[in-house]
Amino acid sequence: MSNRLRHLAIIMDGNGRWAKERGLRRTKGHEAGVDTVRRITEYCATHPEIETLTLYAFSTENWKRPKLEVDYLMHLLRKYLKEEQPRYMEHGIRFEVIGDLSPFSDRLREVIEETRQRTRSNRELTQILALNYGGRDEIVRSVRRLLAVGEEPSEQSISAHLDTPYSDVDLLIRTSGEQRLSNFLLWQLSYTELAFTDSYWPDFSVDELRSIIEQFRKRERKFGGI
Ligand code: FPP
Repeated sequence: MSNRLRHLAIIMDGNGRWAKERGLRRTKGHEAGVDTVRRITEYCATHPEIETLTLYAFSTENWKRPKLEVDYLMHLLRKYLKEEQPRYMEHGIRFEVIGDLSPFSDRLREVIEETRQRTRSNRELTQILALNYGGRDEIVRSVRRLLAVGEEPSEQSISAHLDTPYSDVDLLIRTSGEQRLSNFLLWQLSYTELAFTDSYWPDFSVDELRSIIEQFRKRERKFGGI
């Protein structure tokens, strides 16, 4: 029987190199990356099996980038969410976030909350953006939450107190030729199949995603069994 793909996660990498190769500013690479986010998300919403798409949009380490680039990413994010709301409604996409939103501006947090509320009944796909996200940080925050309510740490209780209750990831893709997890979804990736492609994120296409999914279907997933 072929594998079911319910939860897909992607580390979107290579925007900067894509821009550099074209003699453009890095910010242009991020702008082009937004178009790919839209294309891939809308394809996933039409896919019969995919229920959740989690995208690594801003890591806890990304604050180390030059302030101008960080500010631009925040601006892009706010613009993307504002523009995306009608498209989320049209394609039945529910928007969610994971990560620690406390360092973000009030303006950005407001649009995040507004988008979550507006799209909460959509059922074709849940798109989760990881923002100021770190896998270790998420686990620590989960343990703090469960200790605050007096629960014993266990696999179930830690899972239940993660940022949003979601399924384990079936397939993780990282673009741009890097083969690392970079602190993404550490808890949820325990049994995930991994796929790496050399394409930079702005060049990543629906056709390439389809072919990665085909390969994934042929893999044997054992979950520790034989
Ligand atoms: C990696 O490229 C990508 C990111 C730092 C974040 C991803 C951001 C986007 C796709 C655009 C904004 C997203 C939304 C949803 C509005 P990189 O800069 O690390 O590339 P490099 O490794 O080639 O320098």
